[in-house]
Amino acid sequence: MEIRIENLTKAYGDFRAVDGMNLTICDGELVGLLGPSGCGKSTTLFMLAGLTEPTDGKIFFGDKDVTKIPPEEREIGLVFQNYALYPHMTVEENIMFPLINRKVNKKEAKERAYEMAKLVHLEGLMDRKPKALSGGQQQRVAIARALVKKPKVLLLDEPLSNLDAKLRIETREEIRRIQQEVGITTIFVTHDQEEAMSISDKIAVMDKGVVQQYEVPQSMYLEPENLFVAQFLGMPEINTFSAVVKDGAIYCGQVKLREISGLSDGTYTAGIRPESFEVREDGFAVEAAHVRMTGRDLLIYFTLDKEPLRVLAHSDLQIEKGGAFKLGVRQNQIMLFDADGSMIGKY
Ligand SMILES: Nc1ncnc2c1ncn2[C@@H]1O[C@H](COP(=O)(O)OP(=O)(O)OP(=O)(O)O)[C@@H](O)[C@H]1O
Ligand SMILES: [Mg+2]
Repeated sequence: MEIRIENLTKAYGDFRAVDGMNLTICDGELVGLLGPSGCGKSTTLFMLAGLTEPTDGKIFFGDKDVTKIPPEEREIGLVFQNYALYPHMTVEENIMFPLINRKVNKKEAKERAYEMAKLVHLEGLMDRKPKALSGGQQQRVAIARALVKKPKVLLLDEPLSNLDAKLRIETREEIRRIQQEVGITTIFVTHDQEEAMSISDKIAVMDKGVVQQYEVPQSMYLEPENLFVAQFLGMPEINTFSAVVKDGAIYCGQVKLREISGLSDGTYTAGIRPESFEVREDGFAVEAAHVRMTGRDLLIYFTLDKEPLRVLAHSDLQIEKGGAFKLGVRQNQIMLFDADGSMIGKY
């Protein structure tokens, strides 16, 4: 089911939690709704669910305007951060609950609950109570319960936040598998950029109630439309500094980074991802101020004419604190942004 959001707005007094949002989510896609705390993600999801009434704008599920339709008639499945399972019920009873509530007969409800349990790989645990399950298993029960009514849309609000790092990764892969198996149009809210990038068909990055960019993950990472998106995506964060363009070259302080043409002289904000530097004999000389080993990579802190920067290098590089080495920037990896923060190009 395609979801179309038109000029969707939620105001609390003068404050706009969601401000004129336009977004189309294609049938069967998983869209990650990503942004910092307070940017309006949950408010958006709650309006889609019918739990929060929009101040302005429209929501369409397929051709149907659902803006004024109550939640129970929207055919949505909802999963929240806290699993909200019924503690006194078994896994089976929890999954069956929405059907029993809808007066589906018990035999059929049981069959469908079993089908869902199989889908989320929990069929062996039907007699357990929630407290006898791990966090990841509890969240899979919540997903089975959300899907048992065969909704047209699945809405997930930070479903993995209560899980530890390893379980988070396992469960997000599970969610992606289940979503693709069922083919259900899904919106997945998270503030974790890596999580969003790894499982989404497309990501919508929000800031202050406004969608900053809507793109497939890789394109968004490589071609951010503005500084906010460039800084929000990527770990460790992109290096940013004030760069000067003059005499056909880009400078960081007195250091010439790249010769270019076709750009007017002036000051720009430059962005270089830590992995976009490369150790190179003909590069500029720098000194390692600080070296951090992260396992696969070395994160080396250095200054380039007083500008503090970081390079992500392969861990087999033999560099220690105080060590001298030479760096260049990979072709086409210097992003320049104008005074408004809009990306003007990569050099
Ligand atoms: N009932 C309300 N009255 C006034 N302001 C509200 C209300 N509900 C939410 N807000 C504000 O709207 C903004 C968006 O809130 P929302 O819950 O959508 O953020 P979020 O992106 O989900 O953040 P988080 O990542 O912390 O969950 C916040 O600044 C919040 O304080
Ligand atoms: Mg939220």
